[in-house]
Amino acid sequence: MFIFKNNDDLRRLLDKIKNKKLKIGFVPTMGALHEGHLSLIASAKKQTDFVVTSIFVNPTQFNDQTDLAKYPRTLEKDIALLAQADNHLLYAPSVAQVYPKNFNKNRVFHLKGLDNLLEGAFRPGHFNGVAMAVHRLLEIVQPDAIFMGQKDYQQATIIKQLIQSEKLKTKLVMCPIIRSPKGLALSSRNARLSDEWLNKALILSKTLNFAQAAINAKKSIRLIEKEAMQKIEAAGLRPEYFTIINGNTLKNARYSDNKMVAVTAAWAGDVRLIDNMIL
Ligand code: PAF
Repeated sequence: MFIFKNNDDLRRLLDKIKNKKLKIGFVPTMGALHEGHLSLIASAKKQTDFVVTSIFVNPTQFNDQTDLAKYPRTLEKDIALLAQADNHLLYAPSVAQVYPKNFNKNRVFHLKGLDNLLEGAFRPGHFNGVAMAVHRLLEIVQPDAIFMGQKDYQQATIIKQLIQSEKLKTKLVMCPIIRSPKGLALSSRNARLSDEWLNKALILSKTLNFAQAAINAKKSIRLIEKEAMQKIEAAGLRPEYFTIINGNTLKNARYSDNKMVAVTAAWAGDVRLIDNMIL
């Protein structure tokens, strides 16, 4: 596996790959890799010829500096996992490579309001930071396709919008959520959960399943949301939202919508978890 920290080295190799008319797949990550990331790499390997994974803990998307400081950094272990997964190239740049001195970190991306809802309401500026990092990484890597997890449904929807509004040539592929055998959506943050919280956190996927069944039974959407919040709270988590949204606009869903998604965020102790289900 190639490992590059430097944009020039990366471009030199990727230009050769492009000249050979090979398709480049890109998996952006912040490291602390798990099965979820590896499934993105597996999809990228199936659909493209050369897979670039990036590990970059992007400071512009953290509105809480303690969260940034606490973010797990496990580069050696990540490199071993990537090599096992037969990833072709790891791009692990410094902050200065991604955001050089003259870079405009105040740029505001126009994301049709998708960035202010749900996660955006609880984490102001977060998605502008994500858009900034992904936009810049796409500029550096210039992939044919970017692979993102459904686990961050809102994030993937926003990047789709970014690609559209910036008229980028990259196609976005959203890959399914990978869960633990008991149902917990895999996340780098799970590493911070004690056994007790890991167990309690199962309420999230259980409540998403409840919502699916309630939607099948054509129950009132707003009532389902209310009951879902109560279930999560009763299990000892502190829910921030449980909302059934239109999968395209991310606004409150109605039964007439062609794609509905249940999305939730909750605190398990001091760890904030998110999960969702396409209904
Ligand atoms: O999902 C993530 O890990 C990050 O938000 C991303 C897409 C790598 C941008 O920094």
